[in-house]
Amino acid sequence: MNYDEMINLAERASKNAYAPYSKFKVGACVLTDSGKVYTGCNFENSSFGMTICAERNAVGSAVADGERKIKAVAIFSPNMKNCTPCGACRQVLSEFKSDDGLDVIVQGEDGVKVYPIEKLLPETFAL
Ligand code: THU
Repeated sequence: MNYDEMINLAERASKNAYAPYSKFKVGACVLTDSGKVYTGCNFENSSFGMTICAERNAVGSAVADGERKIKAVAIFSPNMKNCTPCGACRQVLSEFKSDDGLDVIVQGEDGVKVYPIEKLLPETFAL
């Protein structure tokens, strides 16, 4: 699965986003060490703090299927180019980064952009 295909899957997932409050839809696609892919979208709640981001939704599906090592995550929003993950999701992604690192892939102005997770969350907290 290449990074363009992952962005396409993230875009497809973004169509299922439940974002009636912010109207900001996001989709994510994670690729694990074993080559499996999982998608997620954001889903909001009347109690705003209960909102789950697309990235954490996708990571949760991977973990629920027994996966622990994520090589890459693609993120797509129809509302914004270069939609990089929020701080909370950066921390969650770091928890499951593969031994070879984790690439964060976003749709830039022209073509995909790739950020190593360490660039987005330097000096990461880990127990
Ligand atoms: N959101 C995501 O799903 N991922 C991000 O990385 C940024 C924010 C969602 C949360 C909320 O539903 C909406 O976008 C606006 O913040």
